[in-house]
This record gives sequence, C-alpha cells and structure tokens, in this order.
Amino acid sequence: MELSRNEKLLVRALKESGGRATIDDLMKRLNLSIVEVMNAASWLKMKGAVKIEEKLRIEYRLSSEGEKCLRLGLPEKRLLDRILESKVALIDDLKRELGNETVSLGIAYLKGNGIEIKEGKIILSDPEKARATVEMNMYHLKNFQDVDEEIKKKLLKRGLIEKKESIERIIFLTSIGESISEKDLELRDEITQLTPQDIQTGSWKNKELKRYDIRMFTPLPDMGREHPISEFISRVRRIFLSMGFMEIDGDYIVPAFWNMDALFIPQDHPARDMQDTFYMDSVGNLPDYAQTVKKIHENGGGISRGWKYSWDSNLAVKNILRTHTTVNSIKYLYDHREEDIIRVFMIGRVFRRENMDPTHLPEFHQIEGIMVEPGSNFSMLLGTLHRFYSSLGFEKIKFKPSYFPYTEPSVEVHVLSEGGWLELGGAGVFRPEVTLPLGIKNRVLAWGLGLERLAMLYYGLKDIRDLYIADLDKLKSLPLL
Ligand code: PHE
Repeated sequence: MELSRNEKLLVRALKESGGRATIDDLMKRLNLSIVEVMNAASWLKMKGAVKIEEKLRIEYRLSSEGEKCLRLGLPEKRLLDRILESKVALIDDLKRELGNETVSLGIAYLKGNGIEIKEGKIILSDPEKARATVEMNMYHLKNFQDVDEEIKKKLLKRGLIEKKESIERIIFLTSIGESISEKDLELRDEITQLTPQDIQTGSWKNKELKRYDIRMFTPLPDMGREHPISEFISRVRRIFLSMGFMEIDGDYIVPAFWNMDALFIPQDHPARDMQDTFYMDSVGNLPDYAQTVKKIHENGGGISRGWKYSWDSNLAVKNILRTHTTVNSIKYLYDHREEDIIRVFMIGRVFRRENMDPTHLPEFHQIEGIMVEPGSNFSMLLGTLHRFYSSLGFEKIKFKPSYFPYTEPSVEVHVLSEGGWLELGGAGVFRPEVTLPLGIKNRVLAWGLGLERLAMLYYGLKDIRDLYIADLDKLKSLPLL
C-alpha cells in the first residue's frame, strides 16, 4: 500500500500503542498539528487501514466561584468558622463582617443541619452536625472529579463547577492496517510542493510526491460572525424592504397614551396592570387630539358606544416601557395622517413583565407593520403576512380569529413547524375608534409578530432562551443565513 509520510507515522504510532489512539495523543506523540493528523487519518480511512470513532466526552472543572471557595472556604464554612471563633451570632453583625451573600448562603446550607435562626440570631443547636456538613461539602468540592453524579449535579447547580462537553476522536487500526508491512512504513522524503530546483536538479526522482486530495479534512476557521438574532433581523428587514415597505423606528419609553389610549385600550384593561407593564416614574406629553380620544373612550364620540367610564389624563401621561411596537404604528399614523398611501414596518424591542420559559421572554422583538391605501382590505393583510412567512420558508400558516381592542377583524397567526403549531403574533384592521379621530378613512392593516419565536423555529431551537445565552460555541454552530 502506498502511504504518505504522515500516514506512515500514524500507522507506526498506532501499532506501537496497541492499535488505537486518540487524535490528541497522536498530535502529541508525533508533534503534528490537528490538520496533519486528521488528513492522514482520513486518507488511511479511505484506504481501509483505520476506523475513526467519535465519542462524547464530559469534563468537569472548577468555576471561578469554585476556585474561590476552595481557597477561602465555602460560605457555610466561613460562616461556621466565624460563629465558632467569636460566639457572636447576630445576623446583622455577621453580614457586616462577612458580606450579605456569604451569610445568606451559609445560612441556607446550614439551616436544619445544626443551626437554627431565632430573632435575628444564629443558634448553634448541633455543632457536630454543622461541622460535619461543612466538612462534607468542602470534601465534595475538593474531590469534585470523583464524587457521584448526584453530587456533581448539586455542585453544578451551586455554580461551583462547570461542565464541558467535547468530542473525542479515536483512531483504530483495522486488520488491513495491522498487516501493513515494515517496508511499506519506511520513511522517505516527501514533496508536497514541487519547486523549480527539484525539477532542474532532477532530485524529484528520489523523492515521493504527495498526492493531492480536495476532499481532505480542513478545520473550520474560527471566525467572527454576527449574532444569529442580528442576522435574522437583517433577513426580516430585507423581506419587508423588498415588498416596498419603509422602515421606521421609535422610543422604548412612551406615554401610556400612545401605547394604549390612542389604540382604544380602556384604562382598566388588565394589560395595563403593574403586573404586565413596566411603569416609569416620569410622565410625558399628550397631543391635542387626546381630548377626542377621551370622548371616544367615554361615549364613542359618535362612532360607537365607547367604553362607558370616565377617562383620566393622569393615567395617560404616565411613561411606560412600550409593551408592543404598535405604539410606533399609531404615532406614525398620527404624524402622517394626511397621506393616503402608507407602507411602513419596524423591528423593535418590547418589554413585558413575563416569566421566562421556553417560549417567553420579558424583553423581545416584534415585527410591526401597517399598510394603508385606497381600497386596502382584510384579505390584503392576510396575503401580505402569508408572503412574509413564505419568504422565510414557512409555507404552512393559519389565521385564527382573535381579539385586540384596536382591531376588527382581529387574527392570531400560527405557524407550523416540527413541534406543532406555534402562535407568532397578531394582526387586524384598525377599528374606526382608532383611525377616524385622525381623519383616516382608508382601512389601516396592521400586524405585530414575535421575532424570537420565529427565529427559534428558523434555527431549529427548542428553547427561546438559547438565542440569548452567551455560549459562543453554540451560537457559532447555528447556520449562517
Ligand atoms: N400589538 C399586538 C401584540 O402585541 C399585535 C397586533 C398588532 C395585533 C397590530 C393587531 C394589530 O400582540
């Protein structure tokens, strides 16, 4: 069998180490780079001389917090030492001496394990038990490599150790590899690049020419990339620009008036509650037409019956963090109320008091847009949304009837992906209570769609939070758009 210099070195090294070795071993033993070892290995594999196996390797190491605790002692150790030393156990004093965090954590780990808390004091009810707990926890930290999985899990949860997963590649000699003769393994000079001198002097005749292979292993160059979310935003932007929309922008902090009142959201609407909306201490200004909005909320202003309550401008001036980007659509409409043709969109952050889970974030982006023209109608709205999602490759979408105080009809958009149907946002035609006070006669088609959920489906992630975890390896592994 004809082998290159590195292939020969590899086979020799494998024979010497009993027929198998990891890539790392081979790199070290032969003083070759990963590229050289992998190239030689893939050639050998093609020739049937080796097999390459990949195994997941899990490694644990101390986190910086873990290292600190190993040096200074775990919080429970520092706390117990201090109590034993001074016999003073006033929590406030201890906090001043050791810091709030150490004392709180220390108490959390020792409570029920030898200490009790009474009237702001720590009582050492079972010094032996407390000492044993501390000793055991320190022992686990020191010997984290050897402890049971359960204990490793606890150490991970406390942030004392970190888990790193990597792929280990192991190369095995096959029987063909084993049978390669010593003669075939003799090393000869090898030329990878033929020079004019090699030809002029004829020295190439005594050397081996290395074959060229375009399928050989190459490592991925470690280069920077845009954050997947930024890339996705650019992609969405290009789609709307290509459909003839203009991009607009707006502030994060707005008076509740624009976020809610101008959109005919009554002042006792549950979403206004402190639970859902982040309120600021400051207040903003109201436009003149706030007086018309007041009438429409109270009695419909001749358009409908209104919400039948007494509208309070003090609530409308309160500044909030915008809860949806529709605030920018209505502001844009107000500023351009004379125009009969409008096609604008925006991609911006919104803020809600939501708990995080696999499909919710308290801060996320919406893809907002409005479309107005003579004759604009509901089916144009559905068609536009359809076109947007299909440009991203989501062909299966459905609209379900829904409700927003500012649109009629209103729909929710659902998109089909591997995990089933997922709700991605809302859309509808602005109600006359929203548009007539601005003097707008044409139908205003509007939508507000979640960006992160869509990005999650697009990148095939199961958890929306993965988009914002600063794990560079994971982020780099997402496909480029
Ligand atoms: N603002 C709505 C939301 O945040 C979405 C929406 C926008 C609905 C425009 C209708 C019209 O869910």
